[in-house]
Amino acid sequence: MSEAVRYERVGDVAVLAVNNPPVNALGHAVRAGLQEGIERAEKEGARAVLIYGEGRTFPAGADIREFGKPPQPPHLPELCNRIESSPLLVVSSIHGTALGGGLEVALSTHYRIAVPSAKVGLPEVHLGILPGAGGTQRLPRVAGTEKAIEMITTGRHVGAKEALEAGIIDRIEDGDPREIGLAYANELLEQGAPRRPVSEMPAPAPADFDAIYNATLKKGRGQLSPAVAVRAVQAASELPFDEGLRRERELFMELMNSDQREGLIHAFFAERAVGKLPELEGVSPRPVNKLGVIGGGTMGAGIATAALLSGLPVVLLEMSDEAAQAAKARIAGNLQGALKRGKISQEQFEQLTEKALTLTTSYDDLADVDLVIEAVFEDMDVKKKVFAQLDAVCKPGAVLASNTSYLNIDEIAATTSRPQDVIGLHFFSPAHVMKLLEIVVGDKTAPDVVATGFALGKRLGKVSVRAGVCDGFIGNRILATYRTAADHMILDGATPYQIDEALEAFGFAMGPFAVSDLAGLDIGWAVRKRKRAEGMDPRARDSTYADKLCEAGHFGQKTGKGFYDYSDGPRNRKPNPEVMPLIEADRAAQGITPREFTDEEIVRRYMAAMVNEAAKVVGEGIARRPLDVDVTLLYGYGFPRYRGGPMKWADMQGLPGLLADIQEWAKEDDYFWQPAPLLEQLVAEGKTFDDLNKEKS
Ligand code: CAA
Repeated sequence: MSEAVRYERVGDVAVLAVNNPPVNALGHAVRAGLQEGIERAEKEGARAVLIYGEGRTFPAGADIREFGKPPQPPHLPELCNRIESSPLLVVSSIHGTALGGGLEVALSTHYRIAVPSAKVGLPEVHLGILPGAGGTQRLPRVAGTEKAIEMITTGRHVGAKEALEAGIIDRIEDGDPREIGLAYANELLEQGAPRRPVSEMPAPAPADFDAIYNATLKKGRGQLSPAVAVRAVQAASELPFDEGLRRERELFMELMNSDQREGLIHAFFAERAVGKLPELEGVSPRPVNKLGVIGGGTMGAGIATAALLSGLPVVLLEMSDEAAQAAKARIAGNLQGALKRGKISQEQFEQLTEKALTLTTSYDDLADVDLVIEAVFEDMDVKKKVFAQLDAVCKPGAVLASNTSYLNIDEIAATTSRPQDVIGLHFFSPAHVMKLLEIVVGDKTAPDVVATGFALGKRLGKVSVRAGVCDGFIGNRILATYRTAADHMILDGATPYQIDEALEAFGFAMGPFAVSDLAGLDIGWAVRKRKRAEGMDPRARDSTYADKLCEAGHFGQKTGKGFYDYSDGPRNRKPNPEVMPLIEADRAAQGITPREFTDEEIVRRYMAAMVNEAAKVVGEGIARRPLDVDVTLLYGYGFPRYRGGPMKWADMQGLPGLLADIQEWAKEDDYFWQPAPLLEQLVAEGKTFDDLNKEKS
């Protein structure tokens, strides 16, 4: 008997305990073990079989690491059919998360019991596939067409109570999964309960599947798996069970062989690998039980909100009582959102705003915080003054963090007597919503301070990426480059509207000009002024149309106009008619004859600029691995997850072709299009970015 499934006989019941830590994934050994267990139970004259998971969970799905490798029998669909068709009564006892193939196994058993904290779901669409072991055929038969489509297309984890109401499980009982499962199986045997194969239940109700398919496709912004899954549920409704299974398999294989599946699975593992850093092995974070936040603007209030929601008390420092009250109002507004969505109760809301949050105008009140995050105006002199005061009042060992988005952390640290305690914690706005946290490590930052940053990120529910010090760190530095590529295309003949549409069709949540309007055009204006004041390289192309928009008072959504006119609301943007004449004037002043761009060329240039800068970021050690860049762009910059991130996209396109394009474009502008040495090296060695991920993980 396989190690991965333990067989035990308890009276009339054969107990199959899945033992494949950490999540009891249904890898080959587990599948083989379950099949052998069923066969042995039948041979040895058991009357019932109980399947449960040891440790923390019922199987949480197929083993994703086996995807893309030659599958080894028994395959999951055959195993599920074998379980269901057993002449014995088969029961599953669920705790933890019965997800994907795990729920498909449970749906193949005849009865299902779960502990109150259990969750079930079919999250396959998030991996670019669909439930391929009968899930799209069995779930609608127990839960109905509508519920099944909702669960399968969103991949949502459903709690035990909701699963019971939907008919997915039969009973909820608190206790040890083995014990409650055994008691239930014996009770069913005593009652003479019949076997109850889901495949024999009536086909689920019909629906307007074409309309649901189209709506799902639109909602997925180019992601195919949720829409294709609708077609599989349609098969459950319209075809006999066996034919439905065959259709499910065809659709599953189509998705399994797609680039989207490869991209989504890369994203799944990348976001788990990103926090694993050799420098942190064996390093304990410093305890953080109280947080300080300096500045209560949008950013500071967002950071304070995230901390309060995670249970951390916050001391917020502002310049005046009025500013402190305004900050409190912002935090209360953010928490109202959490209250409305049912994430906190009214009582918790009051506790967080009145007790857990302390407002102050005096640095002395920061004397006992464990970690303080500065979120004041982006100006080096202002930040230096703040850090000098923190150095004077904070207790020894307190972590001093800056939320700067591009300033030099080493320079800030040098103004203190404890540079080892200084770190960058770069949140993204709105900080209580956006999942990305860049952890910026200075020359002198101590390893346990880095570990403390990662521990805080985890506590706040963020995906944290380690970054080195440079202008803009990982994300904003790469953004500045691909945004510049877009500006160059505008000068050469494309329009902001064509660029936004092309990139939204590629899968970005918003095109770059719509993003600028959302962030506020004044931000880019300030950066351009700073760069010009610092002295730009004479070879760098510049433009003035965006400055002129700002001079006319158009800062984007917040003033009602920017690249777009928002008079019909943010969702009904229309091109602002003032923009094109400004662009045309800019082109004329620079003697440029505009040319046509295809959408394909727009995407190719934009993406090549992104990947080339990202390769420089990795080559210089600002990002540890290509996957750190992928996670940054996925979580902070609306990059389509189903493409895996820019580096994964580049690998799938082929690095030699991308480098050849960059070399070709360098003939027009050899200042902007300087190939990254790392890209040239990988092409010369015939390697991919993913090879580098593997070497460095
Ligand atoms: N296969 C292989 N490894 C898996 C896995 C899976 N299905 N699910 C999780 N793991 C691994 C993770 O990579 C991680 O490994 P490391 O410690 O080496 O990084 C480890 O298990 C723990 O995972 P998490 O850190 O995510 O732990 P968590 O407690 O935060 O979350 C979870 C647990 C909710 C199960 C989460 O891991 C998860 O959502 N997993 C994916 C579930 C899923 O998508 N299942 C469907 C698979 S596809 C399928 O089943 C379709 C089919 O029919 C073929």
